[in-house]
Amino acid sequence: MSADTPRILIVDDEINICRNCEKILSKMDCEVSIAQNGHDALALIEAEPFDVVVTDLKMSRMGGMEVLRRIKENNPDIRVIVITGYASVSSAVEVMKIGAFDYLPKPFTPHELRAVVLQAITDRMTSRQNQRLKNSDEAARSIAHQLIGNSHQIQKVVSMIQKVSPTDSNVLVCGESGTGKELVARAVHANSNRKDSVFFAVDCGTLSGNLLASELFGHVKGAFTGAHREKKGIFRLAHQGTVFLDEISNISLDVQGMLLRFLESQEFYPLGGTTLQKVNVRLIFATNQDLQNMAVVGTFRQDFYYRIFVYPILIPPLRERKSDILPIAYNFLNQFCRRMNKSITEFDDDAVNRLIAFDWPGNVRQLRNVIERSVIHCEKKLITSADLFLSDYSLAEPAMPESIPHTNEELKQAKKNIRIAAISKLEKQFLINALEQNNWNVTRAARQTGFQRTNFQNLMKKYGIILPRRIRIPNP
Ligand SMILES: Nc1ncnc2c1ncn2[C@@H]1O[C@H](COP(=O)(O)OP(=O)(O)OP(=O)(O)O)[C@@H](O)[C@H]1O
Ligand SMILES: [Mg+2]
Repeated sequence: MSADTPRILIVDDEINICRNCEKILSKMDCEVSIAQNGHDALALIEAEPFDVVVTDLKMSRMGGMEVLRRIKENNPDIRVIVITGYASVSSAVEVMKIGAFDYLPKPFTPHELRAVVLQAITDRMTSRQNQRLKNSDEAARSIAHQLIGNSHQIQKVVSMIQKVSPTDSNVLVCGESGTGKELVARAVHANSNRKDSVFFAVDCGTLSGNLLASELFGHVKGAFTGAHREKKGIFRLAHQGTVFLDEISNISLDVQGMLLRFLESQEFYPLGGTTLQKVNVRLIFATNQDLQNMAVVGTFRQDFYYRIFVYPILIPPLRERKSDILPIAYNFLNQFCRRMNKSITEFDDDAVNRLIAFDWPGNVRQLRNVIERSVIHCEKKLITSADLFLSDYSLAEPAMPESIPHTNEELKQAKKNIRIAAISKLEKQFLINALEQNNWNVTRAARQTGFQRTNFQNLMKKYGIILPRRIRIPNP
């Protein structure tokens, strides 16, 4: 648990209810404590910091109303949720007047409790974050708004961004596909003194050696066949700004050498040119590969590796920071609902469990795709696990044939059918995972998995996989 893990106190004089609430909330990556009466609750609050208190209204010694009143007097920042029995409207109105964050009429379902507590935590975290940001500059605010997550890992990333942004140092962002490398690169730029200048993102994975060099450094007329006129390169166009070189593991050794020279002096010759150009650009690199290993085996230049490994920011995969899943999922849910004009408010229990248990091989991008698809599909106010389409073949039971075979021939045929069905399931899920990890870009998915593009496409056709209608997301 990090210092930022939300702390919740449950107050009820029935220990079973306390334990039940504790169990329900324990899935949310928060720290839950229990008090069995109002006095103990207030003593605990004096001794330790809490973010949210969930208290019953009717308790034998000190009632929930009094607990709420005292908390609001002494610790007004704590969000208090009051459980009101007997669906009493007047007590609900009164607790809201005294300053409760919300009330929860009995009986309530686990997901109702989780939803209201999550809202209270988010509200508390947002105001805490706003408090912190009041003293810092506007730029720092922009990172906090884009990079969602309370995990200590993501908080570390935010703090590294804040430290490195104002310097002119080059930054290397490492992380699996879809973890947010480009988002981090944009945040570094947005929080730097260069924020009013240009940010250029260059996908080094799709540009081959010479083409990449001429894009970056430009070329003079006649530098090579097809160079009919002079071309200003990105480094020249990005003068005073930031250039983000994505997927640098794909850069050829030659171009790595050219970049190394450029990094030393910020000077370069356009291809075929003889006039030295001097610019002022900051470089941010990103990779999802193990560059160190590539440097050892010789597919990446060691000197270039050491030159760019000055300030590495490592974004851990989503499965290693599960407490970020729900906040990010809710953020996407709100985003897509606004865009699609829908009013879905939450995920049901099963959906929450599924989201948290899932491994997310395509990380935050896959989570975004899954939420987008579920918002398109969902027709109610609540997203269920069926709307998520998060199939996981490893959990699936093998299908039983409709009737048990009677002869050896029938047994053989049935075994063959089961085999075919299992392979199809595996193959289909394999394709979907590869596509989701690559933002449904077929060329990249094929390359990543070692398929020829046409073979990959044929398999997609075989399983009827069609690319989802893309909704354009503007740059952050
Ligand atoms: N912590 C986060 N909070 C909110 N959104 C996030 C977060 N991390 C990533 N995203 C979103 O997830 C998507 C993927 O992020 P991004 O493109 O930065 O990943 P990437 O690491 O560059 O992926 P790739 O390696 O495939 O290029 C984007 O829509 C981004 O806005
Ligand atoms: Mg990227």
